[in-house]
Amino acid sequence: MNKKIKKIIQKKNKSKIISLTAYSKNIAKILDKYVDIILVGDSLANVLYGHKNTHEISLENIIQHSLSVKKGINKSLFVVDMPKGTYKNMKSALKNAKIIMKKTRCDAVKLESNRRNFKIIEKLVKKKIPVMGHIGYTPQFKKKFKIEGQTRLEIDMLMKEAKLLEKAGAFSIVCECLSPKAAQIITKKISIPTIGIGSSLYCDGQILVTDDMLGLSGFYPKFVKKYANLNRTIEKAVKEYSRDVKLKKFPTKNNFLNGTKF
Ligand code: KIV
Repeated sequence: MNKKIKKIIQKKNKSKIISLTAYSKNIAKILDKYVDIILVGDSLANVLYGHKNTHEISLENIIQHSLSVKKGINKSLFVVDMPKGTYKNMKSALKNAKIIMKKTRCDAVKLESNRRNFKIIEKLVKKKIPVMGHIGYTPQFKKKFKIEGQTRLEIDMLMKEAKLLEKAGAFSIVCECLSPKAAQIITKKISIPTIGIGSSLYCDGQILVTDDMLGLSGFYPKFVKKYANLNRTIEKAVKEYSRDVKLKKFPTKNNFLNGTKF
């Protein structure tokens, strides 16, 4: 087993697993110092490209961003999302997962569960492609956002799904928008780590979309803690630059390249 994946699994019940998303080298380089997992998420579609959901991202697109992210990673586990439609059946899943692994040199791929694709995950794992699962609110398959696991029946269904993912060989599971009770029960009952987003403190680790927590995306649901307001910081810098150019305060002699003659 990949050593980095082994380390992630060993963290369960010992210390929290810290994860964030990245779409570029510059961001990945900063995250790499402080996180255990960096995910190139298909949130790329809405967060960066402005699509209305995560569906419109192609394999080529996610690979392109992953190549950039890879350049910023030194130690973190590197996971790449499989875009919607790239793992519809066994054959295409295997072909596309192999392409992602080969081209991006990532450590693992992430697939959303639709409660029917366990065999596909099992096949990928058998072919030595590590898989991170994803349950709860799975934007590739569910149109309507809702907190999952609010009734006993829903919790039982989620539990079954998590168990089947574990059995299929997934090394961890992203739990998106689960009720605290569901997150607590599932985390306790499975042996692989749960990585929560909007799913309470009970998960083994946490993940957020970096652009959300930095105040850059404009999407701030309650489960996102805004650790910075980069929108404001960038606006301030751009405003200052614009004023400097207008007032001929930039460029100055300090900005001329060495050896420039007047
Ligand atoms: O696409 C993404 O960024 C994700 C995270 C929300 C876990 O799947």
